Amino acid sequence: MTFSAVDVITAKREGAEMSDDQITWVLDAYQRGEVAEEQMSALLMAIFFRGMADGELRTWTDRMIASGETLDLRGLSRPSVDKHSTGGVGDKISLILAPLVAACGAAVPQLSGRGLGHTGGTLDKLESIPGWRAALSNDEIREQLESIGAVICAAGAGLAPVDRRLYALRDVTGTVESIPLISSSIMSKKIAEGTQALVLDVKVGRGAFIKTIERARELASTMVALGEGHGVSTVAQLTAMDQPLGRAVGNALEVIESVEVLRGGGPDDVRELTLGLARVMLELVGIDTDPQLKLDDGSAYEVYRSMIAAQGGDPDAVLAPAALHDVVSADASGYVTAVDALRVGVAGWRLGAGRARKEDPVSAGAGVLCLVREGDHIAAGEPLFELYADDDEHLVRGRDAIRDAVTISDDQSARAPILLEKITK
Ligand code: URA
Repeated sequence: MTFSAVDVITAKREGAEMSDDQITWVLDAYQRGEVAEEQMSALLMAIFFRGMADGELRTWTDRMIASGETLDLRGLSRPSVDKHSTGGVGDKISLILAPLVAACGAAVPQLSGRGLGHTGGTLDKLESIPGWRAALSNDEIREQLESIGAVICAAGAGLAPVDRRLYALRDVTGTVESIPLISSSIMSKKIAEGTQALVLDVKVGRGAFIKTIERARELASTMVALGEGHGVSTVAQLTAMDQPLGRAVGNALEVIESVEVLRGGGPDDVRELTLGLARVMLELVGIDTDPQLKLDDGSAYEVYRSMIAAQGGDPDAVLAPAALHDVVSADASGYVTAVDALRVGVAGWRLGAGRARKEDPVSAGAGVLCLVREGDHIAAGEPLFELYADDDEHLVRGRDAIRDAVTISDDQSARAPILLEKITK
């Protein structure tokens, strides 16, 4: 059936629901190049303002999945379960969680992306390990899931390819922050990946792109409904992203911290969040193992080493921070009431750990070590952050960005919890 793009746009603009046939036609015709970029831009803006009804969103997501290949993970001897995070500062959880949940008996297909802007990308972090390879074929992914249980690799260009084009268009047309568009974008890729179960870590707070709990709930329940509607057991965990996760922000720095956690140490918040998400993942696939035991007895670390080596990386390589180093100190005494994750994330980016355009290179060793957390008491002159960069220009830009990231007060505020609400179907 053929429609007119202008009719679909004007109907949506006036608040009508698009029919299944209209959605199928408009996305397929866009993929074939018969709906112009400016027409799709106008439709995205109409969706941004009008939203989508449940049925529209479901069909929209179906067509995005059908625009490319899907991975078939049935036939593995382990149940598959993945985690997706909406992105935070210092969020290195995947590096620990994938081997941990694999050590408990599941298969974890973590098809990941690179960082853009102030949040880092899992692939960028792992690429600081010499020799590690992000690109795997579908057969390699399946083999590694069977033999080791965990894969972290690049999501191939074949999964939901129409999302790549829509996402790039949304980025330049002010239509990123739409709950139906975000949900269909994330869920089409996760459903196409073939996982049986999925835990969504929906971040809320200063350093997340969702700032309020109400919007986080709305995004989470929309994604949970989409996953369940497509036969993927899906649960969302809302988590706090006001201050950075752990101490390390930056690629190699975050790998070093992840290994500390895998070896039984590391910051408490990273450990707590990893174990919390692992428990939800294991429950979803019916595995009754306490993940803390697998973290403490070294089995998760062994799976991590195998996972890195299987992709050409050297798990024994010594990773070093960048050569230039600076310290930012407190100018007053008191209690730390805020460590602004957004400012720290931007500082890491300016130091060289992140990229402004997707083709930019990233520095392996650049980044920030956060030496204080909310609730700590500090004295004037005590160090707050260590900054690392490859050259003076980046160091100065990072230092400028991190100014005012810490708020110090005479009154102690309570430490905020990291695991917030769980959203189920
Ligand atoms: N991540 C995605 O993959 N898509 C969005 O729309 C937002 C975040």
